[in-house]
Amino acid sequence: MRETGLLVCLLASCLLAAVVLSHRPVIIVHGLFDSSSDFITLSRFINQSHPGTNVTVIDLFDRSASLQPLWKQVEGFKEAIYPIMQNAADGVHLICYSQGGLVCRGILSTLPDHNVHSFISLSSPQAGQYGDTDYLKYLFPTFLKSNLYLICYTAVGQRVSICNYWNDPHHRDLYLNSSDYLALLNNERPNPNCTGNPGYIGHPYCRLMNGDAFFYTLQVFLRDSFGLKTLYSRGDLVMCSVPGVEHVYWHSNETVYKTCIEKWLT
Ligand SMILES: *[C@@H]1O[C@H](CO)[C@@H](O)[C@H](O)[C@H]1NC(C)=O
Ligand SMILES: *[C@@H]1O[C@H](CO)[C@@H](O)[C@H](O)[C@H]1NC(C)=O
Ligand SMILES: *[C@@H]1O[C@H](CO)[C@@H](O)[C@H](O)[C@H]1NC(C)=O
Ligand SMILES: *[C@@H]1O[C@H](CO)[C@@H](O)[C@H](O)[C@H]1NC(C)=O
Ligand SMILES: *[C@@H]1O[C@H](CO)[C@@H](O)[C@H](O)[C@H]1NC(C)=O
Repeated sequence: MRETGLLVCLLASCLLAAVVLSHRPVIIVHGLFDSSSDFITLSRFINQSHPGTNVTVIDLFDRSASLQPLWKQVEGFKEAIYPIMQNAADGVHLICYSQGGLVCRGILSTLPDHNVHSFISLSSPQAGQYGDTDYLKYLFPTFLKSNLYLICYTAVGQRVSICNYWNDPHHRDLYLNSSDYLALLNNERPNPNCTGNPGYIGHPYCRLMNGDAFFYTLQVFLRDSFGLKTLYSRGDLVMCSVPGVEHVYWHSNETVYKTCIEKWLT
């Protein structure tokens, strides 16, 4: 009998250890023109470093559907992500790549009861975009970045995801008036849908990471317009950069994973 008792205790402590060692579920949101299959490598890194972690790559708005307006994507991704959050008593981690990082900010800003423990914004243009990329040349072959504002800052332009975060520094007035997404997320124009202020990201454990050096310098940070400075002041904002990694490799480069991601997936 004593031996059985011991065995039960051992089993109980094993169970306890398993509970303590288990990691929070990880949710991955892809970027422009990606699909969930592009994140197999990242899922493998997570499985290798934290075996048994439940990793979900949300399979929505793939490829050309990723051009749909970001508020629409926020609603779609939110519907898929919310049940996962509800199943996770200890919360979840969110890894959002490139344009997906802006989608995730939209979710965090409009979901008051989210339970995101760490938000990893992976190489996301959180400050907006004003630069030529291959994508832009493909989408708007007849436009230069200097005149893309002519289409982006119109009601029609705002129906394309890229225009939702097009941030042309030479046309601030048009951006402030017309940007239906980034200007709202940044509280540069009041958005009735966002709750709580300051810092409607609002969760004590939100962390933000970004490859874009300009992020810090923005006025929105200095003014704490959406709570980023508040996060930083309390030590919940961590920047991490790895030199020499091109944008498209940020989610599949193991050095990036080891240096910037792994330690937050507790
Ligand atoms: C995680 O790794 C284990 C052990 O290497 C493997 O058996 C399992 O199939 C992997 N799971 C996923 C989802 O990749
Ligand atoms: C992983 O999480 C999803 C979403 O909450 C759930 O449907 C699924 O059953 C989980 N898988 C495992 C192996 O726990
Ligand atoms: C501001 O945006 C609205 C809606 O897109 C538009 O109707 C109006 O003409 C714009 N005003 C200016 C000054 O650009
Ligand atoms: C507010 O939310 C509603 C419902 O989701 C949406 O239709 C509307 O466009 C949002 N308004 C703004 C300014 O984000
Ligand atoms: C990942 O990035 C590091 C740092 O730039 C680089 O040294 C390494 O070669 C990259 N790995 C791969 C597989 O490209």
